[in-house]
Amino acid sequence: MHTRFLQESLWLLVLCSCVTGTLYTEFTQLPSTTYDYIVIGGGTAGSVLANRLTEDSRVDVLVLEAGSADTEALNLTVPFFSSSILPGSKFDWNFTTVPQTAMGNRTIQFKQGHVLGGSSSINSMLYACASSGDWNRLARVTGDSGWSWDNLIPYFRKVLLTVQQNEKFVAPADNHNTSGQYDPAVHSTSGVNGVSLPGFSFSLDSLVTEAVLERSTEFPPVLDYNSGYPLGIGKFNRWTQSTIRDGKRSSAATSYLGETFMDRKNLHVLVGATVSTVSGSQHHIDSVTFSQPGINDTNVEVKSLKEVILSAGTMNTPKILLNSGIGDANVLQSMNISVVINLPSVGQNLTDHTAIAGAWNRPNVTDSLETWTNNATAAAEALNQWSTNHTGPFTDGLTNRIGFLRLNESSPDVINIFDTYGDPAPQSNSPHLQLIPVNSGPVTFSAVNVVPISRGSVQLNSSDPFGPPIIDIGYYTSQADIVIMRQAVLTIIEWASAPVWQENLGGPIGPIADIINSDIGNGTDMNLVDAFIVANTFTINHAVGTAGMSAKGASYGVVNPDFLVKGLSGLRVVDASVFPFIPTSNTQAPVYAIAERAADIIKAYKH
Ligand SMILES: Cc1cc2nc3c(=O)[nH]c(=O)nc-3n(C[C@H](O)[C@H](O)[C@H](O)COP(=O)(O)OP(=O)(O)OC[C@H]3O[C@@H](n4cnc5c(N)ncnc54)[C@H](O)[C@@H]3O)c2cc1C
Ligand SMILES: *[C@@H]1O[C@H](CO)[C@@H](O)[C@H](O)[C@H]1NC(C)=O
Ligand SMILES: *[C@@H]1O[C@H](CO)[C@@H](O)[C@H](O)[C@H]1NC(C)=O
Ligand SMILES: *[C@@H]1O[C@H](CO)[C@@H](O)[C@H](O)[C@H]1NC(C)=O
Ligand SMILES: *[C@@H]1O[C@H](CO)[C@@H](O)[C@H](O)[C@H]1NC(C)=O
Ligand SMILES: *[C@@H]1O[C@H](CO)[C@@H](O)[C@H](O)[C@H]1NC(C)=O
Ligand SMILES: *[C@@H]1O[C@H](CO)[C@@H](O)[C@H](O)[C@H]1NC(C)=O
Ligand SMILES: *[C@@H]1O[C@H](CO)[C@@H](O)[C@H](O)[C@H]1NC(C)=O
Ligand SMILES: *[C@@H]1O[C@H](CO)[C@@H](O)[C@H](O)[C@H]1NC(C)=O
Ligand SMILES: *[C@@H]1O[C@H](CO)[C@@H](O)[C@H](O)[C@H]1NC(C)=O
Ligand SMILES: *[C@@H]1O[C@H](CO)[C@@H](O)[C@H](O)[C@H]1NC(C)=O
Ligand SMILES: *[C@@H]1O[C@H](CO)[C@@H](O)[C@H](O)[C@H]1NC(C)=O
Ligand SMILES: *[C@@H]1O[C@H](CO)[C@@H](O)[C@H](O)[C@H]1NC(C)=O
Repeated sequence: MHTRFLQESLWLLVLCSCVTGTLYTEFTQLPSTTYDYIVIGGGTAGSVLANRLTEDSRVDVLVLEAGSADTEALNLTVPFFSSSILPGSKFDWNFTTVPQTAMGNRTIQFKQGHVLGGSSSINSMLYACASSGDWNRLARVTGDSGWSWDNLIPYFRKVLLTVQQNEKFVAPADNHNTSGQYDPAVHSTSGVNGVSLPGFSFSLDSLVTEAVLERSTEFPPVLDYNSGYPLGIGKFNRWTQSTIRDGKRSSAATSYLGETFMDRKNLHVLVGATVSTVSGSQHHIDSVTFSQPGINDTNVEVKSLKEVILSAGTMNTPKILLNSGIGDANVLQSMNISVVINLPSVGQNLTDHTAIAGAWNRPNVTDSLETWTNNATAAAEALNQWSTNHTGPFTDGLTNRIGFLRLNESSPDVINIFDTYGDPAPQSNSPHLQLIPVNSGPVTFSAVNVVPISRGSVQLNSSDPFGPPIIDIGYYTSQADIVIMRQAVLTIIEWASAPVWQENLGGPIGPIADIINSDIGNGTDMNLVDAFIVANTFTINHAVGTAGMSAKGASYGVVNPDFLVKGLSGLRVVDASVFPFIPTSNTQAPVYAIAERAADIIKAYKH
């Protein structure tokens, strides 16, 4: 450890017993200006790194997080409230995309967590680790076999004694018998991040079970979608697996930065600290500049002795790189930013899943989400129960069931996509679509394109480079994604035609009703479907790709397979921005897994 740091901590120990723990709100409280590792962003990936690197008491870590440490706010801890964390609230970065030309110039609000734990503190908590094919493709395109499914499994769950895992599979809030609802063989109980089956059963759940039985050819059952082979919607797996522990959200902050870890003397976390740039001498990065907006606008510089690790997420990581002169040299020069290294891929290849939902009336429903959101008395009772012993309807997120599906490979439209682009899924065991029934009234069935081909970008705003970046999420810049979404709409309609829905729902409403009603024996009116897609596509906030990983020596990409920024030393990027292809599942579990492996890679690196 750095001598000056030791001296200063001793000094602080003697003179300032006021510093308790390792969470700081003002930079003046920091024990030093120099740390072995500086992690930018205490989000999903950043928290994992902070935790794992400080397992070695000889190194010290400073985490700089722009948001607050308010991880105990009810909106963040009560699973039922996950969908009520609004864009533009203090927990969100308030990003809006530029008008999407392929969508009639609609803009999309894109949420990103602005609080310790990052997006894991505000997300919908679904835990899914993609398909084996996703990871095998990552190994293939990066030339690093360490990314293959077989080699990565240990970071999700215990296989090797020598490797630490993300997942700590725990009992659900209601402690029900979970036998037959998941496959214990593909889970770990010894990791850090709590994952559980839902802790409260809604009437929709058994209807889904019936629908799956009735439509078992199109929607084949699967025991556990986290086996690496996720196709099908769970017949035996009655429940979604979510980052919920003891009825409360398990975020990267409440798990990896939980109390026992925050007691570590070598872990320092400063909140309310917004990083603007990284810098160094020539091609070695060892310096980070931040300020504390609203607290002290002074620019503060801290130094790393070993590495700076950028974990600011898909939208903010490229912004920091570009402002630091790491990006497309021509663009940077046009903005008068001095170029540190020419990496044209920074900010490019932004990729996000697109989602569409159809709604069906639910007469007589007594336990949809609205039972609580529209009734203050019922909500107060449920919150009281949750506060008393963390049970009841508020222990679940927005859905208890998810399914992963392939496109209909006999459809001429699909055959055409495969002919033009190849199979957009990484492997034949990987899904194209995710199906999400949401327990609202009207109920919604959402389908998500998890294999989008369209790409967008994140760029600096030339008139305000430190303000919000210009986000072009690029939806439907590839026509293939419209074709995939048509199939998504047809899949929703097919799913909703199961007899159990005919018997228990009150019929479709809104644009999906027009589409269904237009089909009088002559097939679905695809013009209506396309208009529906353009007007109603929404995001589920899974964007990746803006600091893409590629093979060492590749002519494109931002980081090498070991997360080091190409052409530089001392700087790694570890967060969702490094995925060169978007995983075919919700993205938090993949982010946790890559961060776990990153920690191992960094620990093994000879500094
Ligand atoms: C609303 C929502 C719902 C989602 N639902 C799900 C789901 O159900 N299941 C799932 O698997 N995935 C879900 N996701 C996606 C998943 O949560 C993210 O992919 C993942 O958490 C991203 O992790 P990350 O480490 O890349 O970034 P983040 O977790 O967002 O962390 C980035 C951190 O960096 C901080 N930061 C940014 N810029 C700066 C700066 N300049 N200085 C200092 N700090 C900075 C941020 O405040 C943040 O804390 C959802 C995401 C959102 C937003
Ligand atoms: C919690 O969410 C609700 C609903 O979006 C909102 O009205 C309230 O202000 C939020 N509370 C906090 C503390 O953010
Ligand atoms: C969020 O961004 C919009 C512009 O897109 C702006 O009008 C609004 O004031 C912002 N909200 C906050 C809380 O900053
Ligand atoms: C979208 O905006 C562009 C540029 O302003 C404009 O040319 C185009 O006509 C708009 N498209 C629609 C459908 O409004
Ligand atoms: C849980 O359910 C399984 C199968 O339904 C049953 O065999 C087992 O005995 C049950 N366990 C307990 C503790 O009730
Ligand atoms: C901000 O920090 C600097 C450096 O420590 C200090 O001199 C200044 O007084 C601070 N300003 C405020 C408003 O606290
Ligand atoms: C860059 O600097 C030049 C010379 O100082 C100035 O004329 C130009 O306006 C600047 N451009 C930007 C985008 O700031
Ligand atoms: C975007 O990703 C593709 C691989 O999917 C790669 O071939 C291409 O070079 C990347 N583009 C940039 C600008 O990095
Ligand atoms: C609201 O909830 C309370 C408590 O569960 C219940 O008694 C009441 O009937 C509900 N009101 C309506 C309008 O559903
Ligand atoms: C939790 O508290 C509620 C009352 O709020 C009670 O009905 C329920 O039985 C309790 N559950 C457990 C497991 O203690
Ligand atoms: C798949 O597509 C074929 C050819 O269009 C069609 O006959 C079949 O009904 C479709 N299957 C499903 C499940 O939609
Ligand atoms: C809803 O309740 C009404 C009145 O009890 C009944 O006539 C109707 O059949 C019910 N609808 C469904 C779908 O169960
Ligand atoms: C269906 O197609 C047939 C043959 O093209 C046509 O005669 C009929 O009017 C069409 N029906 C509808 C409802 O469009």
